Amino acid sequence: MSEFDVYRLPEDHETIRAAVREICDARVAPHAAEADETGEFPKASYDALRSSDFHAPHIPVEYGGAGADALATAIVIEEVARACASSSLIPAVNKLGTMPLILSGSASLKERYLPKVASGEAMFSYCLSEPEAGSDAASMTTRAVRDGDFWVLNGVKRWITNAGVSEFYTVFAVTDPSARSRGISAFVVEKSDEGVSFGAPEKKLGIKGSPTREVYFDNVRIPADRMIGDEGTGFATAMQTLDHTRVTIAAQAIGIAQGALDFALSYAKERKQFGKPIADFQGLQFMLADMGMKLEAARQLTYAAAGKSERGDADLTYFGAAAKCFASDAAMEITTDAVQILGGYGYTRDYPVERMMRDAKITQIYEGTNQVQRIVMARQLLKG
Ligand code: CAA
Repeated sequence: MSEFDVYRLPEDHETIRAAVREICDARVAPHAAEADETGEFPKASYDALRSSDFHAPHIPVEYGGAGADALATAIVIEEVARACASSSLIPAVNKLGTMPLILSGSASLKERYLPKVASGEAMFSYCLSEPEAGSDAASMTTRAVRDGDFWVLNGVKRWITNAGVSEFYTVFAVTDPSARSRGISAFVVEKSDEGVSFGAPEKKLGIKGSPTREVYFDNVRIPADRMIGDEGTGFATAMQTLDHTRVTIAAQAIGIAQGALDFALSYAKERKQFGKPIADFQGLQFMLADMGMKLEAARQLTYAAAGKSERGDADLTYFGAAAKCFASDAAMEITTDAVQILGGYGYTRDYPVERMMRDAKITQIYEGTNQVQRIVMARQLLKG
């Protein structure tokens, strides 16, 4: 490493960023407003990402994937989110759904499922939350009961991103009700398994092109070899997964914020009031400066967390929570300020910044609310 390479992205990662941006500007951004208006899954964006191998870039090469490291995956998600937040949930949720398998699954289970996600034939969702078990994930009641060589699942999962469009699901269920978090196990369930069904799509504030639905399990009988890892290790796997994927939500947040900042900058240079571009007014310049500063701070923390995710550093739990919390709070502020800069125009659907503001909101909520992230960070700090 020369002295010029200290603390900057490797060239490969910049090359990936340029490639994703080109695809997204040309083939994803044009569908973003329509996905938001119609609430329909942006199939054209999926095809664009799939044809360029950006739909699930994290899948290891040995399973037919692109083998992107955690930083490259974050950059892909960031760039897709800059164009369309809903579409960025394609690579993000494929990572979330498959991480339990990658971290804890048997070789045969990985061989059975990962290549299909790598090829784009199937997507993978993550089923942790329930109607009465959100932040308190360990209080879930979805039950899995052993029956010979099978497990039989019953219960309801809620807020499942990409439910219905995903072919495969990591499902966390109670296998020993007396053991709380140590009595939870993880399973792969297929959409086509008998007894699996879906609720109506939720009517949401943002990320409308990414379906969020309940998933119902009614006596779903699956072979015992679909358990991920050992019995009773599901909760730890769920938490380890979130340590890695909170980094991807941070990346999504900075992508949305970058999209809003880019738009606000070009608008401020064009829009004239009092005889000059509004960008000439110091009041606006200070807002733009704050937006850029917060965004860059969020990006640096996110990339540092991505490095920790890739290396599996011991402080990933802290950094994943910190990156997700900081970047999503920053994205909410930046997108709200972008609307302010556009004034009345920003408040209408004729411009994309109100969509970005609505899309940013979810990043403060999912994969653990930012209050949960602060609990996670405080516990890590106090542990020393
Ligand atoms: N890595 C490994 N193990 C972990 C862990 C981690 N990061 N965090 C906790 N554990 C283990 C603990 O060591 C403990 O194990 P032992 O019993 O063996 O000691 C066990 O898990 C229970 O841990 P806690 O006592 O800390 O658990 P808790 O009940 O107090 O909950 C919590 C902690 C942080 C609040 C957790 O429930 C949590 O993260 N809640 C938020 C859930 C969440 O993020 N949901 C998002 C759903 S996914 C989603 O949003 C996806 C989408 O659609 C895009």
